[in-house]
Amino acid sequence: MPKGINLASKMEKQLPAELVNFMWIAGEIARTRGQSLYLVGGVVRDLLLGQANFDLDLVVEGDAIELAKELKRLNQGKITTYPRFNSAKLRWDKWSVDLATARSETYEKPGALPSVKPSLIDNDLSRRDFTINTMAIRLNPGYYGKLIDLYGGRNDLKHKLIRVLHEKSFTDDATRIWRGLRYEQRLDFHLERNTLKLLKRDIPMLDTTSGDRIRYEIECILQEKYPEKVFRRAEELGVLPKLHPALKGNGWLAEKFEQARQLSSPEPPEVGLYLALLAYPLINEETERLISHLRLPKSSAQTLRDSISLKSKLRLLATPGLSPSGIYRLLDAYSPPALMANSLATESPAASQNIHLFLNRLKYIEISLTGEDLMRLGVVPGPHIRELLELLHEARLDGKITTKQDEEEVVKGWLATKQG
Ligand code: CTP
Repeated sequence: MPKGINLASKMEKQLPAELVNFMWIAGEIARTRGQSLYLVGGVVRDLLLGQANFDLDLVVEGDAIELAKELKRLNQGKITTYPRFNSAKLRWDKWSVDLATARSETYEKPGALPSVKPSLIDNDLSRRDFTINTMAIRLNPGYYGKLIDLYGGRNDLKHKLIRVLHEKSFTDDATRIWRGLRYEQRLDFHLERNTLKLLKRDIPMLDTTSGDRIRYEIECILQEKYPEKVFRRAEELGVLPKLHPALKGNGWLAEKFEQARQLSSPEPPEVGLYLALLAYPLINEETERLISHLRLPKSSAQTLRDSISLKSKLRLLATPGLSPSGIYRLLDAYSPPALMANSLATESPAASQNIHLFLNRLKYIEISLTGEDLMRLGVVPGPHIRELLELLHEARLDGKITTKQDEEEVVKGWLATKQG
């Protein structure tokens, strides 16, 4: 076995046996094809940190799709191929493994996607964002478990530093600004001094990056355990205004995100809820600007629009003595994340209580009779049917009636007044 650091036993201890077996066999098969195979990226970083991460990223010096097809036969899983990137994804049971062809990248202009060509592992690692993400573990027999650390990633992990590989890293790809903040806050690391200088210098480069790519990074941040830490840091460094100048990464946001977690527990909050809280300080036009800047998909855009529209109705919602059916009418059209965001963000306890009443109870109240039942009882088909159904629903919401029989009585009474 060649000298150097070997992580085979760490892999054995920290990763599920099924994945370890898979990598071992994949290394052997790659060898029979004359190819070198490596485990790379976040999983290597997290292995060294002792943190759970089972998202395997493999890189092969050779054709990843062909290798993936051969590996698929081992576990009878599903394969998805991406010929444009010469990469593939394998899925079986609860596992998913990405396989890519080692490649080098050149950035023709800032912000654009790079042009790529097949290459050796060294080049593949040299195109990456931060030293802690450049480490690889070789998987071929004879070398299995061997750590490849060309940029001092292990040392930076030890000193808790986020460091770029070269001066143009953020210029090439400004999404790395957000990524850097995300890793820094997630891992409780620090941006290394020169990296911090470069990051600040290149903040204007965020304007060269597509909304889709920024949105992806924001979504990744919102899936972190404590996204508010990233936004606080982004505000401190002047990155947050690039998303929108009126956004805040302050204590208010931290408090609301924490409450959102409690409200959604045991699940983490939906991204839409976090997003609505983040965008809460914005007015209409500002929200629209954020939506188009990030090219938000329909459902998230709707959540933000709902949230801001509801914000303007909170005073009405806090009216003393408002009936349950009145609350229902005010809130029925809004999506749950927008409702939850407003219940957390409003300073009116009455409005908040009413939203909770709607979400926990009113929303589920239904009537027993159908339109057909009404006709059977003698109501003439036409607009009256809908009117009556609404009347029954309202009476149910307000607790005036509680059973199917009660509903039938209401209908009979209504028919009597009509006939009379
Ligand atoms: N990468 C990069 N520049 C980017 C995005 C990704 O250099 N703008 C590289 C990094 O080396 C990263 C790898 O691609 O390790 C895979 O990216 P991703 O899956 O986003 O990150 P992980 O390393 O898996 O980290 P995590 O999922 O923990 O955020």
